[in-house]
Amino acid sequence: MKDKINKLQALQAEAKLGGGEKRIASQHSKKKLTARERVELLLDVGSFEEMGMLVRHRSTDFGMEEQKYYGDGVVTGYGTIDGRLVYIFAQDFTVFGGSLSETHAEKIVKVMDAAMKTGAPLIGLNDSGGARIQEGVKSLGGYADIFYKNVMASGVIPQISAIMGPCAGGAVYSPAMTDFTIMVEQTSFMFVTGPNVVKTVTNEEVTSEELGGASTHATKSGVTHLTSSNDVTCIQDIKRLLSYLPQNNREKAPAIPYTLTDEYRPRLNEIIPDVSTQPYDIKEIISEIVDEDSFFEIHKDYAENIVVGFSRLAGKSIGIVANQPMHLAGCLDVESSKKAARFVRFCDSFNIPLLVLVDVPGFLPGTHQEWNGIITNGAKLLYAFSEATVPRISLITRKAYGGAYDVMNSKHIGADYNYSYPCGEIAVMGAKGASEIIFRKEIKSADNPEEKLKEKEAEYAEKFAHPYLAAERGFIDEVINPTETRRKLIKAFASLENKKVVNPTKKHGNIPL
Ligand code: HXC
Repeated sequence: MKDKINKLQALQAEAKLGGGEKRIASQHSKKKLTARERVELLLDVGSFEEMGMLVRHRSTDFGMEEQKYYGDGVVTGYGTIDGRLVYIFAQDFTVFGGSLSETHAEKIVKVMDAAMKTGAPLIGLNDSGGARIQEGVKSLGGYADIFYKNVMASGVIPQISAIMGPCAGGAVYSPAMTDFTIMVEQTSFMFVTGPNVVKTVTNEEVTSEELGGASTHATKSGVTHLTSSNDVTCIQDIKRLLSYLPQNNREKAPAIPYTLTDEYRPRLNEIIPDVSTQPYDIKEIISEIVDEDSFFEIHKDYAENIVVGFSRLAGKSIGIVANQPMHLAGCLDVESSKKAARFVRFCDSFNIPLLVLVDVPGFLPGTHQEWNGIITNGAKLLYAFSEATVPRISLITRKAYGGAYDVMNSKHIGADYNYSYPCGEIAVMGAKGASEIIFRKEIKSADNPEEKLKEKEAEYAEKFAHPYLAAERGFIDEVINPTETRRKLIKAFASLENKKVVNPTKKHGNIPL
């Protein structure tokens, strides 16, 4: 028995070396941790149980028989984060550049299946040169097996992808189908075709970083939800993100015990300027409303005219969607509608209640918007809110104009409680635009058209730019004093704790994609 145990230990030691010390050193020289170091940092100390450590590839072409490494370029298994079960895979760049072979894919699929069966989140740490070139179609099949599982797991367990090195070709589609992507700055990139192919086909000269680095995907494409400055902060971000999420779609997110104290927030009376065209930072309002330092923003640098993220209110996890008057006056446009719709659908899939802060002058006008499908894209957000059955509360902090009033979680599309601050303005459009249309003749024929327009504008504003008509109709449940926001919201969400709404039975809806 002793000999046999010695042999096992030797095999395990060999597996732990991955592609060897030289390649590990090369990984470190690129300021990257190895797969095993990442796993160790991510999971609670001593909690990792490895699966498939001794798996090796079956390929024989191109001299592959002589090059076999235990684990075949991916470390897989389960462990805990803050005591909660998670399944993980971490690609090992020291073995064939972390490339995906048939057996490498089988290992990933195995943990995906286990995560689904046990109702635990799946975390993938990606660092790979893509399909194992020596294996041809077997490797492509392996990718497709993973993609299929990603789709089956979508909405069942949270799936998080960290991009901690290369991620190119079709390989990008697995992260794209997971719920969240986090990219490490400078050391990771994602693209369907790399700079060389781009140069050949379009004659564009572009670096890997410009084409698909973390900053590009955080600001231009929105492909990544978060970026981190290095491997260690990336892993910290994954843990923080996970702390807001439930284990699966049948559970609620973990709550931190909370005792009600003085919930008045006098500063909320001071943030919104008296002049309604003056901007303010909605994030200041958010941080006054939610538990201290609990706001975790998603897609921070993309479509900044809408802010989305997780937070805690009285210890409980909530999702926040908020128009941002500091950017494009808070208008809804193509990108912000897509960003918010995806976030709303995630929260709804995983039983996370939604708080919506509304300050929206309308949809952004212009040919760019119309030609890029603001109709279809705006409809995504409308659809996402309408189908969401989680507790949903809206608070109009200032403007709620036009179609955007309807879209931003209005009472009419199923919100549970709708509040407004006294400075709320709810109307078909702003006073100036409205007066120019409905009083056009009167203004044109006036001795002083400019004066007349101002007079009519004031008349319109007096009539409509307030929340009381909406309150009269019951579209707003209550006009609240801003200092009381937190107290009101805590009570309202508590009352919705056991909310149950069942939408009509269907195979699935047809969200305007
Ligand atoms: C087999 C690979 C590999 C691959 C890298 N390696 N990619 N082996 N299949 N796809 C090996 C290298 O031969 C090398 O082995 C080791 O990994 C490290 O690679 P380097 O090139 O030395 O590292 P680096 O300079 O950091 O460059 C990393 C890289 C580059 C940018 C990822 O290796 C690269 O461009 N690889 C090819 C990427 C690619 O075209 N993949 C296929 C995409 S198509 P040695 O033994 O020298 O250490 C695809 C289709 C998927 O993925 C479709 C799914 C639907």
